[in-house]
Amino acid sequence: MNALSSLDQMTAAERPVQAGGEVLLSIRNLHKSFGGLKVTNDVSLDLRAGIVTTLVGPNGAGKTTLFNQITGHLVPDSGQILWQGQPLIGKKHFQISRLGVARTFQDLRLFSHMSVEENILTVMEPISWIWQPGGRSGRSERRDKVNDILRRTGLSAKAHMRAIDLAYAERKFLSMARIMAADAKIWLLDEPASGLDRGSYELFVELLRSEVGKGVTVCIIEHNLDIVLAISDRIAFLDQGRLLADGLPDVVLKDPHLAAIYFGDMSA
Ligand SMILES: Nc1ncnc2c1ncn2[C@@H]1O[C@H](COP(=O)(O)OP(=O)(O)OP(=O)(O)O)[C@@H](O)[C@H]1O
Ligand SMILES: [Mg+2]
Repeated sequence: MNALSSLDQMTAAERPVQAGGEVLLSIRNLHKSFGGLKVTNDVSLDLRAGIVTTLVGPNGAGKTTLFNQITGHLVPDSGQILWQGQPLIGKKHFQISRLGVARTFQDLRLFSHMSVEENILTVMEPISWIWQPGGRSGRSERRDKVNDILRRTGLSAKAHMRAIDLAYAERKFLSMARIMAADAKIWLLDEPASGLDRGSYELFVELLRSEVGKGVTVCIIEHNLDIVLAISDRIAFLDQGRLLADGLPDVVLKDPHLAAIYFGDMSA
């Protein structure tokens, strides 16, 4: 039974109530404006270990901008972002990614003219030469890991194809494959399932839940309500730069005020 249909058959009371482990990433009173537009307006949010926190909200709510500030692609105007207690603001994006914070982009940003396999290899630690201690075993472990990621993302048969020649859904899975190779503690996923057909997003939900089962912590931006329901342990709701709610899915999604904002936007 796939993840979506098994969830369809559970009542709200049977759903696992998952609060998560320790706080890995803590955002405190964050502010960011572009000119007169407040895109992050006093946001405070904790991302806890071992769970999926889903960031929802209408287009332009400031979801991607929040990710950009966490990962060092944008500098906040004020506030704090702490990773396991350590301040992130002021660090470069590559320093933040080395600390174990990995992300995907809404526009994917793959290496279009590299093969699927090369796209995955670029995010892995450099290997040792085979004559160095552990070099030969390191190479074979890396090969096994790439093959495992290719298999689990359904890309084994496309390993030598260029990213630019993949179908849309395959490019989305390649973006997931790259983050799986990065060995990060937390994944920030910016609409990784948008535009997927139902078959593909069922595979996506299974993949994500299995990675979380292995200990990865996820914060994901997602619009599709079926997927939101299938993957979320907590939901944070942003609108016009403000965090309007942060709680268990049933509570947040049943709030009529938030539903009006969310579905008002969806039907626009
Ligand atoms: N670099 C920038 N300069 C000026 N305005 C920006 C910039 N980046 C984002 N914005 C604006 O900030 C607001 C929030 O954008 P953001 O991309 O964070 O929204 P979002 O919630 O991710 O939306 P979507 O669901 O459409 O991806 C939007 O009004 C956007 O036009
Ligand atoms: Mg966005």
